[in-house]
Amino acid sequence: MQKRELGRDGLRVSALGLGCMGLSYGYGPATDRTEAIALIRAAYERGVTFFDTAEAYGPALNEEVLGEALEPFREAVVIATKFGFRNGQPGDGLDSRPERIRQVADAALIRLRTDRIDLFYQHRVDPDVPIEDVAGTVKELIAAGKVKHFGLSEAGAQSIRRAHAVQPVAALQSEYSMWWREPEAEILPLLEELGIGFVPFSPLGKGFLTGRFGADATFAEGDFRGTVPRFSAEALKANQALADRVRELAETKGVTPAQIALAWLLAQKPWIVPIPGTTKLHRLEENLGGADVELTPDDLARIEHALATVHVQGDRYAPSHQQFVNR
Ligand SMILES: NC(=O)c1ccc[n+]([C@@H]2O[C@H](COP(=O)([O-])OP(=O)(O)OC[C@H]3O[C@@H](n4cnc5c(N)ncnc54)[C@H](OP(=O)(O)O)[C@@H]3O)[C@@H](O)[C@H]2O)c1
Repeated sequence: MQKRELGRDGLRVSALGLGCMGLSYGYGPATDRTEAIALIRAAYERGVTFFDTAEAYGPALNEEVLGEALEPFREAVVIATKFGFRNGQPGDGLDSRPERIRQVADAALIRLRTDRIDLFYQHRVDPDVPIEDVAGTVKELIAAGKVKHFGLSEAGAQSIRRAHAVQPVAALQSEYSMWWREPEAEILPLLEELGIGFVPFSPLGKGFLTGRFGADATFAEGDFRGTVPRFSAEALKANQALADRVRELAETKGVTPAQIALAWLLAQKPWIVPIPGTTKLHRLEENLGGADVELTPDDLARIEHALATVHVQGDRYAPSHQQFVNR
C-alpha cells in the first residue's frame, strides 16, 4: 500500500490505517482476544502500518491486545494512542493534567510492549488545563524518548494553533466523512497552513455509509450508536437518501460503498490518512481496496453534486458528549 506523511517531522504511515476501537469499545461486546490479534496481524500482512488505539478503549482489551499483536513487527509499524479522560473512562470526564499525561504514557508503554509511543494524541481538549501545558508535557515526553509525535483529537482551530506553537502537532484526528464535512470549513485550511496531517475517524460514518443500517436498524446493548441522534429511527429514515447516493456512486465505479467513501477521503488531500475500523477480515480486505480506487476530477465532481442533494439529519454525538468536541 502507498505511504503518506503526517506532519513535517517524518511520520510515514500507510495511506489507510486500522482503527482498533471497535475491537473492544463502543459497538457492543469485545472481540475475542485471539481473533482480534489475528485481525490486526492480517492488516499488517496486507500493508497496514498505522494502528489506532486509546486508553479509553479499555486498556486491557485494546492497547494490550494491540501490543501483543504488533510485537513481532514493532519496528515496521506506527502505533498511535491517546490520553485525556479521567481514569481512562470517557464517562468520568476529562483529565489532561500533566501528571496524568505522564502516568498514561508510562502505563501505555507497558501495555503496548514498546519503548516509545509513535503518536500520542490528546483525546479531547480539557478546558481546565491550558493547551500549552498539555503540549509542553508531551514535548518533555518526546525529549525523554517515550513519545515520537504529538497529536490532537476534535480540537478547535485556536487550540490547534496554541498547541502547535509549543510543540509541533503531527496530526489532528477528528471525525470526517461523506456525512460529516464540517472540518472542510476551517480546520483543513488551518492544517494545510501549519503542515499538520489529518486522520479522519469514523470515515465510514460508523458503518452508515456502507449501507448496512437501514431505516429499521436497531442497536445491541453496549452499542453507543443506539444513543446517537444521527442513528435514531427518524434520522436513519431521513438519511437513507445519503446511503442510496453512496451506493449509486459506488456502482458507477464498480466498487463498494465503503471503498468509495474511503477513496473520496484520500482524494481530498495527500496528507489525509483515514482509519476505518472493523472486526472482520473480509471487511478489512474490502476497505483496504479503497486505497486502490482512483477518482478522476469528473468522479469527484459527480460525488460533490450527489452529496449536495442530501441534507444529513441528527447530531453526531449525544448531548452529554457534544460539549467535548471542537473546542
Ligand atoms: N478520536 C476519537 O474520538 C475517535 C472516535 C471514534 C473513532 N475513533 C477511531 O477511528 C476508528 C474508526 O472509526 P469508527 O470505528 O467509529 O467508524 P468507521 O470506521 O466509520 O465504521 C466502523 C463500523 O463500520 C463497520 N464496517 C467497517 N467496514 C465495513 C464494511 N466494509 N462494510 C460494512 N460495515 C463495515 C464496522 O463493523 P464490523 O466490525 O462489524 O465490520 C463498525 O461497526 C476507530 O476504530 C477508532 O480507532 C476515534
